[in-house]
Amino acid sequence: MARYLLIIDQGTTRTRASVMDQAGTLIGATEVAVATATPQVGWFEQDALEIWRSVQRAMTDVLLNTSVSPAELASIGITNQRETTIVWDRKTGQPIHAAISWRSNQSAAIAARITTKTEQTLVQRKTGLPVNAYFSASKIRWLLEQVPGALAKAQAGELLFGTVDTWLIWQLTQGAAHVTDVTNASRTLLFDIHQLKWDAELLQLFALPSAILPTVYPSTNTTLQTAAAVTFGRQIPITAIIGDQQASLVGQDCLTKGKVKTTYGTGTFLMFNTGTKALATTQTELLTTLAYQTAGQVPTYALEGTILTAGATIKWLQETLAFFATAAESEYLATKSLAATDLYIVPAIADMGTANVAKGAVFGLTQTTNRSQLTRATWETMAYQTSDLLAAIQKITGVKALELHMDGPAARNRYLQQFQADILGIPVLPANDYQDSAALGAGFLAGMATGYFKNFDHLEQLAKQIKPIKPQLSTKIRQEKLIGWQQAVAAARKFKP
Ligand code: G3P
Repeated sequence: MARYLLIIDQGTTRTRASVMDQAGTLIGATEVAVATATPQVGWFEQDALEIWRSVQRAMTDVLLNTSVSPAELASIGITNQRETTIVWDRKTGQPIHAAISWRSNQSAAIAARITTKTEQTLVQRKTGLPVNAYFSASKIRWLLEQVPGALAKAQAGELLFGTVDTWLIWQLTQGAAHVTDVTNASRTLLFDIHQLKWDAELLQLFALPSAILPTVYPSTNTTLQTAAAVTFGRQIPITAIIGDQQASLVGQDCLTKGKVKTTYGTGTFLMFNTGTKALATTQTELLTTLAYQTAGQVPTYALEGTILTAGATIKWLQETLAFFATAAESEYLATKSLAATDLYIVPAIADMGTANVAKGAVFGLTQTTNRSQLTRATWETMAYQTSDLLAAIQKITGVKALELHMDGPAARNRYLQQFQADILGIPVLPANDYQDSAALGAGFLAGMATGYFKNFDHLEQLAKQIKPIKPQLSTKIRQEKLIGWQQAVAAARKFKP
């Protein structure tokens, strides 16, 4: 009797498989690490076959760990790191090159070919995105130019492109399905987010043949099936596909206009639900994206703010400066440090869509500044950056967020939780340790398509169980701190050695 959902969450550093029961509870999860290579500064690549193997391993392990048999699986939901680009041979299934990670800027020179204002405006209007190497289009073109013979093969229809969801589904179906969903498609720079289709003009702009593109589905469907040979001798429906940041928006019950979540990881991704409207933005740190679309329904859109160097700064303190050995220690240091109200750490800033790069800087150092205060200031940086993004989005939407949902590894840090609430002046809702928001979101969508859940009520109940952390800072001190931060950012931007 099928009574469980299997969720695959394929991320940058790990693949996680989870099992959800019919009540919407995650009953177990297994993680498998995935490596990233950095062949040159600023380049990040992953082995697409390793990614697939990690998924097979995680699926097998989670069933063993939860004692769920394949026959008990009603369907599979897939959520994934977005933008990461894989091109493979339609016949042999072999990738033509390593996967180009979303973090990689190796195709920056290709993105920079889109120079005219008219072209940039066209891209922004149709896709909601600034032209940038972060998104898939220039990565695909880079692969077709770099791998000998690839361009001709792509033109002849012999190569396929996919983000990680597409690659995994192609593997899970043994090549029967070359598909993606609207949320993943919306990160390629090739997808018209208003018409919900690939766009010929955009393909032409990036000089890409349409034959490489997958078919686009809503985030839920009832037609895809795995190949029995791949999934434990049984065909299993794949009923949900959704990008990981969008999945965590759903999983954190940010399903109505004005609800907002942040995921703090290597990067920080803030997503603000704008309802059925795709609100335009030309601000370099913001973009318009598809949030989710259940089959047969109009899509929900979001504004997203991205901070590319967030947790990476904490990692720098840990690995390069050897300030602490574990995340827990960094929390202890931050909490015990004496207040140093005028200490600000501005990480290197690379604005999306521009060549505007500022070097990182520390402001307010004194002879008594110590390791704890610098650690604390680094955590505070994440909160300030999030506050900047939220302020920019609230300006566009005219809607004030009433609370901020937070998840991701760094969201467990109690110092960050409190400081984030303090600096925003609104409560924050940190996801419980055992609540993997992206898995919850993908699992819920899969379960809706399977008929387990009629609506999102259960997610609302889960969100209600989270204890809000309320702001404790006075408005005056909050304003002073924000002004200090803004001055530090402005000074860092001016510094051009
Ligand atoms: O846009 C990139 C994002 O989807 C990566 O997420 O969780 O793999 O760091 P994650």
